[in-house]
Amino acid sequence: MNISVAGTGYVGLVAGVCFAEMGHCVTCVDVDENKINLLKSGVSPIFEKDLELLMKKNYLCGRVDYTTDFQSAYRNADAIFIGVGTPEHPDGSANLSYIATVARQIAESIEKDCLVVVKSTVPVGTNDKVEQFIHDFLVHDVRVEVASNPEFLAQGSAVNDTLHAARIVIGTESKWAEEILRKIYEPFNLPIVSVSRRSAEMIKYASNDFLALKISYMNDIANLCELVGADIQDVAKGMSFDDRIGSKFLNAGIGFGGSCFPKDTKALEYLAKQHGYELRTVKSAIDVNKDQKTVLFRKASKRLITFHGLKVAVLGLTFKPGTDDLREAASLENVPLLLEQGAEIFAFDPVGSNNFAKVHPQGANGKGSITYVGNIEAALDGANVCFIFTEWGEIKAVSPKLYKKLMRTPLVYDGRNIYNLKDMKLAGVEYYSIGRPG
Ligand code: UGA
Repeated sequence: MNISVAGTGYVGLVAGVCFAEMGHCVTCVDVDENKINLLKSGVSPIFEKDLELLMKKNYLCGRVDYTTDFQSAYRNADAIFIGVGTPEHPDGSANLSYIATVARQIAESIEKDCLVVVKSTVPVGTNDKVEQFIHDFLVHDVRVEVASNPEFLAQGSAVNDTLHAARIVIGTESKWAEEILRKIYEPFNLPIVSVSRRSAEMIKYASNDFLALKISYMNDIANLCELVGADIQDVAKGMSFDDRIGSKFLNAGIGFGGSCFPKDTKALEYLAKQHGYELRTVKSAIDVNKDQKTVLFRKASKRLITFHGLKVAVLGLTFKPGTDDLREAASLENVPLLLEQGAEIFAFDPVGSNNFAKVHPQGANGKGSITYVGNIEAALDGANVCFIFTEWGEIKAVSPKLYKKLMRTPLVYDGRNIYNLKDMKLAGVEYYSIGRPG
């Protein structure tokens, strides 16, 4: 099939390249000319395992191409997927201006029957409006419908998540639209859940918010574990044997970040409010997460009189390993608090430092300073205190003995529960983590 994809971010680019891998003929469209040139040269603008490999393979055999010329890309497409961003407005609602721009371009470009498929996460009911909007601006007399096909990939495992998704959710309002989507996904050989357009839109939010709730619940229980002398990791293990609970997303830590859970929890709460309903569970997940981000800073502040003039090692800046994305990362909350108190930060992240330096440039910063280092040893050397914000493999591989050997005071605050408590004690490290005796 002839598929065009609007937007070459995580959702659009990965979907486009995976459709090509499955044998479809794909054109990826973006307004950013530099990005298109980069993509044509085989370079991915996002850090994602296996993506460049598939990009090069499918570009060379002509199954995927990249362009800024949306008119020619949309004109004869059988289906156009929309994968542009829906960032959040200050009040928590979703900003749909990118979707509206693409919808109008589609309406003015298409010259044959075409299914428009929205992959971007949009509030329930949006796709009804997108369809109406396209009909209002349609230039040629063609059949066009809008379907919802939410995306469930996670950053860091995007290609694998797409090619081996647990399910494909399609939300359509006609047999015609459903058949087109079934045909597109046939080569993936994955379970398809076919529902109405509004239910599909809701499945996306309900899934993400359920996972966010799960994490906030574990963080809440972790904080209580500390007070009553229990260990959250043992508690999670004991819970996980129950199939009804499951073993995934039970890791307590420094709170959830990324571009999705924080945004989608707020968006669903906002949607509920618009309908006169208070979504109390999701609101609690948001509140717990807000506090959780700074739980270690507050703990350390009680232990140390001040951070002023202290060398602070920060290990991990991204919101999770396997990505260079910093959105809503715990580091972004904690680094300003440390700088405000005059800390001298030495930060290490295998891929996130350049992005972080755009927000906090190297050198003097407020009352403190920040230096980006290329290895963990340089961050720890002579440090008075260390914070771990991301569980990168290379950080997990650091031996407890190294903290004792290199740091001036071996005092470690671990937001990802990387270490065994006994190992740290044996190595002589004063170690505090989340939800465990410390
Ligand atoms: C999330 C969902 O997992 C995807 O299914 C969804 O498609 C995506 O959002 C989206 O809507 O686009 P992602 O944000 O890439 O994916 O990352 P996750 O792996 O879900 O992690 C999110 C945050 O939760 C991270 O900060 C992570 O450290 C944290 N987390 C995760 C925990 O604190 N504990 C856990 O047990 C699991």
